[in-house]
Amino acid sequence: GERDGKQYHYTVPSPTSYPFQWFWDSCFHAIILTRLGEIDQAKSEIESLLVWQDEEGFLPHIIFWDSSKMKLLPPHWNWLETKPFLSFLPLMPKPKTSAQIQPPVIAQAVERIFEARPDKDWLKEILPKLILYHDWLERFRDPDKDGLITIIAPFESGLDQNPAYDQVLGLETAPQAREVLKRNRGVMLRNKLLGYRPKLINAFGKFSVEDVLVNSTYGQSLNSLARMATICGKEADSDRFKSRAEKVTEALLAKCYDQKEGIFWSIYGREEKPAKVKTLSSLLPLILTDLPEEVVGRLIDEHLTNPEEFFLPFPIPSVAKDERVFSPSGEEEGGGPSPLWRGPTWINTNWFLTQGLKLHGCDQLAKEIAQKTKSLALKHGFREYFNPLTGEPGRWSAKSLGWSALVIDL
Ligand code: GLC
Repeated sequence: GERDGKQYHYTVPSPTSYPFQWFWDSCFHAIILTRLGEIDQAKSEIESLLVWQDEEGFLPHIIFWDSSKMKLLPPHWNWLETKPFLSFLPLMPKPKTSAQIQPPVIAQAVERIFEARPDKDWLKEILPKLILYHDWLERFRDPDKDGLITIIAPFESGLDQNPAYDQVLGLETAPQAREVLKRNRGVMLRNKLLGYRPKLINAFGKFSVEDVLVNSTYGQSLNSLARMATICGKEADSDRFKSRAEKVTEALLAKCYDQKEGIFWSIYGREEKPAKVKTLSSLLPLILTDLPEEVVGRLIDEHLTNPEEFFLPFPIPSVAKDERVFSPSGEEEGGGPSPLWRGPTWINTNWFLTQGLKLHGCDQLAKEIAQKTKSLALKHGFREYFNPLTGEPGRWSAKSLGWSALVIDL
C-alpha cells in the first residue's frame, strides 16, 4: 500500500488481534521470510519499518499503516501510546506511529537477509539507518551511561505484562488483570503528558527499567551491527559497536546477575533495585557470546532444566512454575484472559533460547526444545501461546500469529 507518499509492504502479526505493523514482529517475519527464500518480501518488511524513522533515529514499536483498523482495538490504547495529543478529536489527523520502542532485533534480521543474499548495495543503504537507531538508543535511553538501555513502559519490553514489573508498578503479588492494565495505562498517560520526551520522562516518569531481555537482544544486535559495519568498510563504527556490546555484557553481569541465585534480574528506578521474579527474561543473556561459561552453566543447570522452574512438559514457560504468579493457561479464574506473559510458552522466546543453547554448545538440549516447540505448532497451528503443562493453546491466544512461524527456522 501507500500512505502519505510512503510505500509499505509488511505482514500483520495477526489479522484480527494485531492488524498493524509491529516492530519486533516484523523483524521475526523478515527472518521467517528469508528462511522461506522470500528475500524481496523480507527486505520490504524491513524497509517499511524504517520508513517512519525520525531525524534523530527513533523507530516506533507500531506503525498504523491502515488507520481504519484502529476501530478493532480499544481506542484509548492507541491514543496513550502515540504523541499527537488531540488526535482523538474527529477532525484531527490520526497518529501514524506509536511513540514507544520494542526490543532491538532489527540488526539481526538485516544480517540474516544479507547472509542469504549478500547484496552489498542494499546493506550500504540500510546500515546508516540502523546505526542512527542504535545511536538513538544510547543517546536517549541510557541516561546513566552504564551501557544498559532503559525502557519507559512495560509494552516496550515486548513482554507486555511481565510480572517482574508488578513491584515496579507498586502491585501486590498475583494482581488481577484489570489492576495490571490500569497501572500500565497510568504509566503511558504520564509519558503522554510528558510529550514522550526522553529527558522529561527520565526526570518525572513512573517506570524506568533496565530490562534483561531488552538488553540481551541489544547486546546481540550491537554485535550484528559491528559485523555488518566491517563488511561495509566502516571499521571505526565496527569497533565502537563491538566495545558497546562488551559493555552491555559487563553491565548485565555487574548489575543484574545474582551470584547467590545464579540468575539475572531486571533492575528499576534510580536505586536500580532488582525485580526478583523468575521469568524467561532472566535466562535471555544466554544469547550473548561472551557470557562466562560458569554463568551459562548455572542458568541452564539450576533454572532452565529445573523441572520445578522452567523445564516443564512444553518448555520454556514465560514464568517459572514455582513463582506465585505462574498462570500457565493464560486465563484468570473467572475465565477471562490473564495479563500476557505470565506463564504460557511462546515460540519467539524459545527461538532465542535455543539459539543461546547452541551458541554455548548445548545442541542436544536445543534440539529437544525445538522438537517440542515444533510439536505444538504441528498440532495446533501458529497460535500465539501455549500452556507449558498441557501443550494446549491458550483460549485467548491469537490465531495465525506471524512470529510463531519461527518454528520453521527452529
Ligand atoms: C503482544 C506481545 C508483543 C507483540 C504484539 C504483536 O502485545 O506482547 O510483544 O509485539 O503482541 O504480536
